[in-house]
Parts: sequence; C-alpha cells; structure tokens
Amino acid sequence: MKRLVLSSDHAAIDLRRAVAAHAEGLGWTVSDIGPTTTESTHYPRHGAAAARAVAGGEADLGIVLCGTGQGIMMAANKVPGIRCGVCHDTFSARMIRAHNDANMLSMGARVVGEGLALEIVEAFLSTGFEGGRHATRVDMIGEIEAERG
Ligand code: RB5
Repeated sequence: MKRLVLSSDHAAIDLRRAVAAHAEGLGWTVSDIGPTTTESTHYPRHGAAAARAVAGGEADLGIVLCGTGQGIMMAANKVPGIRCGVCHDTFSARMIRAHNDANMLSMGARVVGEGLALEIVEAFLSTGFEGGRHATRVDMIGEIEAERG
C-alpha cells in the first residue's frame, strides 16, 4: 500500500499542496491533514498528528514541513516508532530510507525551492529499506526508545 500522510505549519502551506499533488501523481494515496490556512500555528501539534498517523498504521510514510523542517521533525521524532529525518538533498532522502528505514521525511519550505523539494519527495518515496546490517542499527534505535519505558 502506498498511503502518505502530510502535514505542516503555516510556513509551508503552499509547498505542502505541491507535495500532495506530486505524491498523488506518483500513485500515492495522500491524506493531507492540514492546516488549511496560513494563520500562525504551532509546528509540534502538526508534526505529532502526522507522526501518530504513521505510528498507528493509518499511513505507510509521512512527510512534514515547516519553515526549516527542524522543529516539526523534532516533534515527529518524539512519537514512539517514528524515524524522521530532515533532508534538503536527494542523496540524504534516499539514504534515510535505504539505511535508516525512515518512515517520515521533513523539509523546510524556507530552505528549499519547490522544484528541489519535489525531487527530494520522489527520492524518499521511491527508495526501499536495504535491511541487513542496517536493520541491526535501526533495531538499536528502537532499543534506545524502549529505555524510556
Ligand atoms: C515558524 O515561524 C517557524 O519557526 C517554523 O516554521 C519552523 O521553522 C520551526 O522549526
């Protein structure tokens, strides 16, 4: 299944809409959970909402966007089971899937232009986890998370 959840804060509404259209064009079923207006809002709320959809199995992957991509990534990564990386280049976007089994991507709408952002999205969505030695390391991330109880 190719189910993608998308969210952002007010700084990335236009980029989020472009990402939604692009992902749909790539055959993904997109759940865009907003927000819908450019009114100032709080990125932790939106990062957590998208992350909970991924962690809860309602979406296979998630993409979150804010001004820098950093704050919303930090919020998403607080949800157990989430591995979210900020990528502003296509190499990193492939690697966080192939080596880190990232289930979420974050980008900053004030950092990258739309053209590059859509290429990053495509790299992220089209790359699979390589497993093997990388699975051992990803499992170790899970063990750290489990220390929280
Ligand atoms: C909002 O002004 C901005 O702080 C936010 O979009 C993001 O860049 C935070 O990490």
